[in-house]
Amino acid sequence: MAGTSSDQRKPHPLFSPYKMGKFNLSHRVVLAPMTRCRALNGIPQPALVEYYTQRATDGGFLITEGTMISPTAAGFPHVPGIYSKEQVEAWKKVVDAVHGKGGVIFCQLWHVGRASHQVYQPGGAAPISSTSKPISKRWRILMPDATHGTYPEPRALATYEIAEVVEHYRQSALNAIEAGFDGIEIHGAHGYLIDQFLKDGINDRTDEYGGSIANRCKFLIQVVQAVVAAIGADRVGVRMSPAIDHLDAMDSDPLNLGLAVVERLNKLQQDVGSKLAYLHVTQPRYTAYGQTEAGRHGSEDEEARLMRTWRRAYWGTFICSGGFTRELGMVAVAQGDADLVSYGRHFISNPDLVTRLELDAPLNRYVRATFYTQDPVVGYTDYPFLSKGNGSKLPLSRL
Ligand SMILES: Cc1cc2nc3c(=O)[nH]c(=O)nc-3n(C[C@H](O)[C@H](O)[C@H](O)COP(=O)(O)O)c2cc1C
Repeated sequence: MAGTSSDQRKPHPLFSPYKMGKFNLSHRVVLAPMTRCRALNGIPQPALVEYYTQRATDGGFLITEGTMISPTAAGFPHVPGIYSKEQVEAWKKVVDAVHGKGGVIFCQLWHVGRASHQVYQPGGAAPISSTSKPISKRWRILMPDATHGTYPEPRALATYEIAEVVEHYRQSALNAIEAGFDGIEIHGAHGYLIDQFLKDGINDRTDEYGGSIANRCKFLIQVVQAVVAAIGADRVGVRMSPAIDHLDAMDSDPLNLGLAVVERLNKLQQDVGSKLAYLHVTQPRYTAYGQTEAGRHGSEDEEARLMRTWRRAYWGTFICSGGFTRELGMVAVAQGDADLVSYGRHFISNPDLVTRLELDAPLNRYVRATFYTQDPVVGYTDYPFLSKGNGSKLPLSRL
């Protein structure tokens, strides 16, 4: 290193340490939560241990795929749950292996709401939601036999039933902690159950959970409060996507919807005297991940304005996700637009993504056709690591 200025030796902020509450992270590259359909009867299999271990780094932060909080939460084939003893036991193996590599791992708690089908529901019942309006035919549901179907008409939850769903989140959070997870992420994004309450393009309720922004935020905030009371704010992250229309999740005023959520999370942090682990927001530029490469793209300026407004308003760690390249991630962190950046598709095809980004090494291309297939190896754990030949350039901390 003779002749190198100390400035040149300093890692770029994307690869520099960050303290996320009680967690000391060694870099800012996060594994985004991604459904991969490799569980069996709701139970994580050895392939999941391998997959998450491959993507773990010392001091790196991983978020699991969406994980069912109850039997009615399912809307994809072969997704894992966290509501039964057997599921908790199986997750322990994943968590232990990730911890063995020094990683920090949160479990994403998921209920798909109306984004389901009778075939996934106990007793062949209709999926539950904030509404009885189905998702439009523009969207197709992946069926257990790998064909695509139409989303059926959901059953709107009665007001008195909502507390029970909140309880499922609370219990699942406790289960996640029992499994050894460092925390949980509440999936409030992408058109699933919580988003079905948040957005006025879906929520047509006339009770205290519908109508005004305050009412539409109520379900999410009750879930956050219940989970925070159970496991502590510093183990809870929240994901939202106010500006994303995935599964018809449109809102007439995404900016203010996002701000309303942020304000309530800030207040909750103040009330409990502790920060949440983070707020995770999906960029509008990334939509329709399951369906096509190009979703509805807004203008870059408008998008940056939305993200920056929420980022500035939120009192805590802010994670951005959606369409990040190495360069965009570096800019986002360097400019203070994000504390951490979560990577999805590139992390599917590059188990050693952190190293590759750090070295500016070429990336493997992801294969969309195997995103949601069930083979425990193909398209899952068989993406190659950088070859040994590149090893000499690896920084010691990652070897
Ligand atoms: C195959 C696949 C599955 C996904 N599953 C989830 C999920 O379970 N929960 C979630 O919050 N986001 C999910 N996402 C969205 C990702 O977390 C991420 O926000 C998205 O892929 C955008 O990041 P990228 O452009 O880096 O891929 C999924 C994305 C992909 C590609």
